[in-house]
Amino acid sequence: MRTRTVTAMIAVGAATGMLACAAPASAQPPGLAKQDTLAWLAPPGLEVGAAVAGGGHHENQEYPDPFFFDTEYRELLANEFTSLTPENQLKWDFVHPEPDVYDFEAADAIVEFAEQNGQDVRGHTLLWHNQNPAWLEEGDFTAAELRAILRDHIRTVVGRYAGQIDQWEVANEIFDDSGNLRAQENIWLRELGPGIVADAFRWAHEADPSAELFLNDYNVEGINAKSDAYYALVQDLLADGVPIHGMGHQAHLGLQYGFDPGLQQNLERFGDLGLVTAITELDIRMELGEDGVPTAEQVAEQARRFSAVLEACLAVDSCESFTLWGASDLYSWVPHTFAGQGSATPWTEDLERKPAYCALQRTLAEASPGGAQRFAHHPAYAECRALLS
Ligand code: XIL
Repeated sequence: MRTRTVTAMIAVGAATGMLACAAPASAQPPGLAKQDTLAWLAPPGLEVGAAVAGGGHHENQEYPDPFFFDTEYRELLANEFTSLTPENQLKWDFVHPEPDVYDFEAADAIVEFAEQNGQDVRGHTLLWHNQNPAWLEEGDFTAAELRAILRDHIRTVVGRYAGQIDQWEVANEIFDDSGNLRAQENIWLRELGPGIVADAFRWAHEADPSAELFLNDYNVEGINAKSDAYYALVQDLLADGVPIHGMGHQAHLGLQYGFDPGLQQNLERFGDLGLVTAITELDIRMELGEDGVPTAEQVAEQARRFSAVLEACLAVDSCESFTLWGASDLYSWVPHTFAGQGSATPWTEDLERKPAYCALQRTLAEASPGGAQRFAHHPAYAECRALLS
């Protein structure tokens, strides 16, 4: 069993100024460990991904940037996933902190890591109302200047990773839950009007013609006013010849909200427009009592819902990517954003697998011919069988 604490990790980092030591070798017989991962079980045509922790809320935490520091976490990212999304490291405030300054250090390291491990990278994000630097939000720019700023940013960032970042979430969260454009909150929409969305896609396409370009949002899992607004926008963009290729469904879910059964149908309708679709930021949070420990019912229900989202994606041809927003509760944004809630990822703070992990593993196994049998009997899956029983 792995045991670890944040304080121990910091002590190692502080003492050596280097990466922490590698995790103890797995207790599994040689040859089995590789099969015992989500990456191994993912069927052809489906990338299984995770956010790479760093930046954002992590900057207020007592631990250093997890990706550079936590070796055991890096191993998990390398072994379990076929796709990675920088959680914050490509957002404006991180990558473009001053008007003439770009900081690519963290994103470069993630892209290089992904290349070494044969993984896709999803770029997140280019046009958003959040996590913009003060110089941009509080600057006194004319519309022409703002246009040039956005165009240069997109050309610089997308161009730097041309051929290396496979998908870009170009425009993030541009509609509110009623299906109205965020015409006030979003600096680009406010100052430049709705046409800027198409321009952002065009500039990104010019900078990397091989990248798949996405819209992306939360609360667009089912069929509702917000996903309808995206559905209409995609049709308009396609009719205008705008290079848009995909629709990202974040899927920040919570046990307290029920589960929208329309997910599969919704993925299908975007696929029918000729788009690829993706689950881009799945986590499933829950309300926790004072002890912070989920109940057995919550644990079981969370496992069911993780696999229900995966099943919907597996059932739809267009759904080519399934990304978790966090590969450990230790680094999850949830407790820092939603008071009293947590336990939102399939791994505990100690990087132990939860039943949610095993439900994903089983669902992936069952998606391949003979997979159900293999999952039921093969020694590689004994740990998960025990956790699910
Ligand atoms: C979150 C990050 O996980 C946090 O670290 C950060 O402090 C705030 O943003 N939708 C998105 C993501 O598109 O970029 C957000 O990520 C979660 C909601």
